[in-house]
Amino acid sequence: DKGGWPSFMAKEVSEEPEAVANTLRGRMRDGQVVIPELDGLDGLFAGITRIIVIACGTAAYAGMVGKYALEQWTRVPVDVELAHEFRYRDPVIGADTLVVSISQSGETMDTLMAVKYARERGAKTLSICNTQGATIPRESDAIVYTHAGPEVAVASTKAFVAQITALYLLALHIGRVRGSLSPTEAAQQVLELEAIPDKITRILHLEQARIEQFAAWMADTRSVLFLGRHVGYPIALEGALKLKEISYIHAEGFAAGELKHGPIALIEPGQPVFVIVPSPRESALLHSKVVSNIQEIRARGARVIAVAEEGDAAVLPFADEVLRIPLAGPLFEPLLAVVPLHIFAMGLATAKGLDVDQPRNLAKSVTVE
Ligand code: M6R
Repeated sequence: DKGGWPSFMAKEVSEEPEAVANTLRGRMRDGQVVIPELDGLDGLFAGITRIIVIACGTAAYAGMVGKYALEQWTRVPVDVELAHEFRYRDPVIGADTLVVSISQSGETMDTLMAVKYARERGAKTLSICNTQGATIPRESDAIVYTHAGPEVAVASTKAFVAQITALYLLALHIGRVRGSLSPTEAAQQVLELEAIPDKITRILHLEQARIEQFAAWMADTRSVLFLGRHVGYPIALEGALKLKEISYIHAEGFAAGELKHGPIALIEPGQPVFVIVPSPRESALLHSKVVSNIQEIRARGARVIAVAEEGDAAVLPFADEVLRIPLAGPLFEPLLAVVPLHIFAMGLATAKGLDVDQPRNLAKSVTVE
């Protein structure tokens, strides 16, 4: 049931605040993270020397975002790999490896095969999954469910923000179990997480209609590029995937620092480029680097669409369009910056008259390898 929305995707984007809130619910007590499903499983986290996150598509981008938080709060090195690549390259894993899989459906065959493989090789496995009782969680040593609710549209939206939320909860939990994070530090991050749902709601209220109009105006565009740095990089990849998936427009995401190593050759007058701009308050250095990237592409005629924090005036002279997100700590910006990109992809596909829920050639859950 679309609940009055024109598409499941529109409904699911509107549910992004609840997807985060419901994934947090029941997992925080007195300012600390408490994950009931992980009760008695501290042994899974005690002896590990590395974490490998495996997933496909959008879930893999959630994993890339999660890596920053996992490494920062647990001090355990983290690799993020596409499940189908991991499985076939004889990876170095064993009892000291925690393999975290991420899957909305819990049925993605590539991810399932990678989890089974990791288990056979003696690794510990933990599944982040949105579907109760699905195959991947059943094959894993531990489960942390995302509570985004059923996701029907092929393009994953609310599951993505729920996956990042679950990864952050897991990172805080492991950080506390291993003692790499103090209770005070953990409590600060919990406050940031709790504030996210209202901030997403604010984007939907203040920016959705404007972004949809802007997307409709761009409906004839043939190619769109997305740039981001640090946690903004996986968001750039996600923005590009969503756009190609439902609007059939060529789209590519890049790490902003890669520009001069190749992609800047693509910039010609009129080329639309979305740039995810880090907070100037939280990371002045990263912010100044991204602003100079914007200047470089602007000088070559790019049409810059900046996704920037409210009040960031430094982007104004160089951006043709600024999509605003509320203030948040640096690790939490991805949960906000992705929302305008989801709205944009949906708005553009809708303006082209396409079926946003059932894009051509794609299935909601990929159950073959
Ligand atoms: O069910 P899963 O999370 O395992 O699915 C993984 C990918 O197939 C999925 O995220 C896909 O990339 C989406 N259609 C992207 O919007």
